[in-house]
Amino acid sequence: MDSYARNRGRLLTSSRPLPDFEVVGTQGPWLHLASGTRIFDGSSGLLCTNVGQSSPKVHARLEKQFFRYSFGGAAVVQPHIQTELMERLCRAVGRPDDCVALTTCGTLGVEVAVGLARNITRVRDGKLRGDILTSTLSYHGMSALTLALAGNHARRPRPEDNFDLGPGYPAPYPPTHAHEDRNCDASCANEIGQEIDRRGAENVAAVLIEPINGTTGGAFVPPDGYLRRVSEICQERDVLVIHDEVLTGMWRTGTPLASHHWDGCEPDIVILSKGLGAGYTSVGAVLVSPEMARWIRHENADQLPAMGTMATHPLMAAACLGVLDELEEMDFAAFTARGKRLGEALTSLNGVGPVQDIRGRGFLYGVEVAPGQLWPVMKAAEERGVFFYPFTGAGHPKSEGFVVAPPLISTDEDVEFLTTALSGALDAVN
Ligand SMILES: Cc1ncc(COP(=O)(O)O)c(C=O)c1O
Repeated sequence: MDSYARNRGRLLTSSRPLPDFEVVGTQGPWLHLASGTRIFDGSSGLLCTNVGQSSPKVHARLEKQFFRYSFGGAAVVQPHIQTELMERLCRAVGRPDDCVALTTCGTLGVEVAVGLARNITRVRDGKLRGDILTSTLSYHGMSALTLALAGNHARRPRPEDNFDLGPGYPAPYPPTHAHEDRNCDASCANEIGQEIDRRGAENVAAVLIEPINGTTGGAFVPPDGYLRRVSEICQERDVLVIHDEVLTGMWRTGTPLASHHWDGCEPDIVILSKGLGAGYTSVGAVLVSPEMARWIRHENADQLPAMGTMATHPLMAAACLGVLDELEEMDFAAFTARGKRLGEALTSLNGVGPVQDIRGRGFLYGVEVAPGQLWPVMKAAEERGVFFYPFTGAGHPKSEGFVVAPPLISTDEDVEFLTTALSGALDAVN
C-alpha cells in the first residue's frame, strides 16, 4: 500500500467518495491526469474555479505582490491593495458606493454579515433586533452559528447544540412547499412577513437568503417577484436583507449577482466568496450599502467585528484582482449566449433516464435524479470524461442529484463536450 492510500483515512472529510483519478496538471476547465488523459471539471471545483485553473493573469498579480511584500495586515502596512480590490469589486457588481469587510472564507463572511446587521439595527433603532431568519432549504457555512441558523437538514446540529436557532421560513420551491391550488409564486414571501410579525419586528435584525438556491436543494430559482416582495416586506418592518451570494455571485448565474435577474431586490448586505477567489485564494467579502454602513460608523455603534489575521492578506487581494482581470476580459455577449445554450441543452435532458427535474440559470444547474441513481450517473459521466458536484436532500430526505456548474471561461466546444458526455451517461444508466 502506498503512503497516500495508508494516510487517506486521516482525512476528516464528508462521506463523499474521493475521486478515482490523480491530477498532475490543469488548464482552464480541464484537469490532466496521471493516466495521460484529461477530465472536464463540470463542478468548477466546489463551485469556485470560475475562471479555470492556471490563469496567467492571476499568476502575474500574485508574483508582483509576492516580491513587493507577501504579508501586511492592516495594522502593519497601508491597505492599498485591499482598497484597490474593494473599488474594482464594488464597481464590477454594480454597487460602487458600498463599504466592504474582507474575510477568509464564505462562512466567516456570513458571520461578519450577521454581526454587522445586528450592530446596524441596534444602533439605528436602539432595539434588541438579534434574530436572523433563514429558509428551510439553505446553507450558509460550517461554523457552529451558521449551521445552527441554516435549514440544511442533513447538516443540522443536534437540538442540544443548536443554540435554539433554526430556519425561520419555508423555501419557495415545490418539493418543500406544497400548495393545493397553485405553484409557488411571489406571495410565498408573505410567510416571511408573518414570521417577522410573530416574533415582533423589534426582535429581528435581518432575513438571510440565497437569491438562487445553491447546493442544498440544487439550484432552485425563486418565483418571479419573490425577492422583490421579500425586500418590500423587510423594508416595511425595518428589517435588513442579506443576500448570501457566496456561491451565486461573480457571474455564476450569468449576471454579476444572482439578484440582478430581477428588479427591486437590491439587498442591504451581500456576501461574496467562491467566485471572487475563484479557487486561487480563500476569501470572503461583505458588501454593505452606504445607507446602512453609516450606522456602523456611528459613535454608539459596537466595535466592528474582527476580520481575522489573514483577512487582509495582500496575496489574497492580489489573486482576487487577477480573477477580476480574467472576468472583465470575458466576451459577455458570447458568455451569455453560451449560458443560455447550456441551459437549453440541459433542459432537453429533463425526463431522460433517471432525471426527474432540471432547474437553474446561467452556469448553475441542478439535475435531480431518481433515488439511488446519483452515483451510477456520476460514474458513467466520469467514464465519459466529466464530473459534477453531488447534492442530496432537496426536500425529500432521499432526493439526490448533482450540480452542473462548469467554469465560466468554458468554450462552446467545452459546453458541447459536457452536454454530450452527460447525455451519454444518462442513456447508459437508463
Ligand atoms: C451559499 C453558501 N454560503 C456559505 C458557504 C460557506 O462558504 P465556505 O465554504 O467558503 O466557508 C457556502 C459554501 O458552500 C455556500 O454555498
